[in-house]
Amino acid sequence: MTAEGAYYEFDMGMVRRRLDYLREHLPDGIALAYAVKANTFLIRDMIPWVERFEVCSPGELRICDRLGVPPEKTVISGVYKTPEFIEKLAASPGDRLYTVESMTQFRQLRELSERYGKRLPVLLRLTNDSQFGINEEDIRRIVENRGDYPLLELRGVQFFSGTQKTSLKKLARELRSLDDLLHGLQEDYGYRARELEYGPGFPVAYYKEETLDEEALLDGFAQLLTQMRFSGHVTLELGRSIAACCGKYFTRVVDLKHNRGQNYLLVDGGMHQIVYFGQYMGMKHPILTVPGKESEAARDTWNICGSLCSMNDILAKAVPLPEMAIGDTLCFHNTGAYCMTEGISLFLSRDIPEVYLIRENGARVRVRRRFETDPLNTPTPEGNG
Ligand SMILES: Cc1ncc(COP(=O)(O)O)c(C=O)c1O
Repeated sequence: MTAEGAYYEFDMGMVRRRLDYLREHLPDGIALAYAVKANTFLIRDMIPWVERFEVCSPGELRICDRLGVPPEKTVISGVYKTPEFIEKLAASPGDRLYTVESMTQFRQLRELSERYGKRLPVLLRLTNDSQFGINEEDIRRIVENRGDYPLLELRGVQFFSGTQKTSLKKLARELRSLDDLLHGLQEDYGYRARELEYGPGFPVAYYKEETLDEEALLDGFAQLLTQMRFSGHVTLELGRSIAACCGKYFTRVVDLKHNRGQNYLLVDGGMHQIVYFGQYMGMKHPILTVPGKESEAARDTWNICGSLCSMNDILAKAVPLPEMAIGDTLCFHNTGAYCMTEGISLFLSRDIPEVYLIRENGARVRVRRRFETDPLNTPTPEGNG
C-alpha cells in the first residue's frame, strides 16, 4: 500500500496466461481483438499478443497511437464516429478498419473513400435490436450494390449484443443467425465475406454468489464455431474476459464504527474509483481479501463504505471479515476490466487513484500518478485551458 491511498494493480503475466487459456479453448486460427474500453493500461504490452484492438472513441485512438498500436491492428468502431476525426483518419496513411454502425456512417465512409481516393476497409455491424448497428436489409442492400462504391472494401460483418453472456444457447442462436446471414449474402449476391468479427460477451464471475463453468462454456462455444458453414476468418472481440482477472484494487480502512447494530468499515476509496458489473448498493459480495489476514477466520460482518459523502457509496454489505482495524487494507479481486473507469470519478472532487503494472518479468512499475480532480471541477476565467 502506498502512503497516498487506494490504487489499482494490473498483472500483465496474468493477461498473457489468460490469452493462452482462451486460445487453448478456441479452434485454431481464431483471432482475438481486445476491446480497449475494458482497460487502456494493458494495451502497450498486449500489442504482440492480440491480432486487433477495438477502439470506440477519438480518445481511445489517441491512447492507442501514443502507445504504438499499428494502425492496421485497429478497428474503429463506435455508434458515433466524430466526422472530423474520421475524415482525419481517412486522409492519413495507414490501413485502418472501420465498422459501419448506421446508414449515416455508411454514407460518410463512402464519401470519404471517394474524396480521398482511398480504399477503406469496413465491417458492417448487424444490429441486435438496439441503437447499435444496421438492419439485415441494410446489409443486404449495401452488399447488393457494392459495385457502386468500389473503394469501400466490404470485409464482412461485425456483431456484438451484450456482455456477461452465460448461455451457450444464446451464443448458438447468435452464431446460427450470423452464419445464415453470411450464407445468404453468398447465395443471393455472390458475396463471400472475408471475415466475421463477433463479440461473444464471455462472462466473468465477480461475486462469491456466482458459479461459472467456463471450461464447458468455452468448449461448447468452440464446437459451435467449427459447425459454421462460414469458412472465412473469425475474430472474437473481447474485453472483460481478457482483462478482468489481471486486476486488483487496494483500499485502506480509515475508520470503523458500529451504528445501530450495524458494523461499518470506511475505506479511503469508494464507488468513484471502483464499479463492478451488476453491483447495486453493495448487494453482492465481490471477491475480496485482507492482505496479511488471509488465514484468519471471519469474526464479524461489515458494510464496506467508501469516502464519498453519499449514502450510495457502499462497496459491499454484510461481508464476513476477520478482526479489522484502521490501517488494514482490503484487496478487491477481478478488477482488471472496466472497474476503474466506469465510475463517477469527478463526483465530490476526490482523487483518481494511482495505477501500477506488474510486468511479465515481475517488475512493478507505476504507470499513472494520483490525480486530484478539483481543478476539473473549478471554474476559471480561461476555462481551465
Ligand atoms: C462493440 C463491442 N465489442 C466488444 C465489447 C467488449 O465486451 P466484453 O467486455 O463483454 O467482452 C464491447 C463492450 O461494450 C463492445 O461494445
